[in-house]
Amino acid sequence: MDVEETLVLVKPDGVARNLTGEILRRIEAKGYSLVDIRMIEPDRALLAQHYAEHEGKPFYEPLVEFMLSGPVVALRVAGNRVIEGFRSLAGTTDPTTAAPGTIRGDFGRDWGLAVQQNLVHGSDSPESASRELGLWFAS
Ligand code: PPS
Repeated sequence: MDVEETLVLVKPDGVARNLTGEILRRIEAKGYSLVDIRMIEPDRALLAQHYAEHEGKPFYEPLVEFMLSGPVVALRVAGNRVIEGFRSLAGTTDPTTAAPGTIRGDFGRDWGLAVQQNLVHGSDSPESASRELGLWFAS
């Protein structure tokens, strides 16, 4: 067994479209466990830390603006190989080409370069998961 924890964010589009329950249902149906959950209105400082590796990329400012547009639901999720497994459930970044059956493939919307509403974030490595869980679940 390789039990891990990951950070999942239901982004503002997912919360606004009442998809939080559907996303959590898919996570639990896969066999992963919810360890903690918080609804958060992130500020720029939190997002700057969370997305530090993307600063300077063309999508950075639109992404931060999008993440400031409404509340986010942060999930601490545990399971065997859950980091890779959740990213598989989420589908690829671009909702237009994400496979049907994935969260982004079934529900994500692409409104063009400025706004990519892909519903969820999932940590991409054990190091990222540890860092990001520390940011979003700081006491
Ligand atoms: S990279 O450069 O390959 O690491 O980028 P990628 O992993 O594809 O995406 C990193 C995060 O940026 C988001 N993203 C966008 N947001 C808004 N608009 C546009 N055009 C856009 N392009 C990429 C993408 O969803 C990733 O966010 P997270 O929260 O990590 O899923």
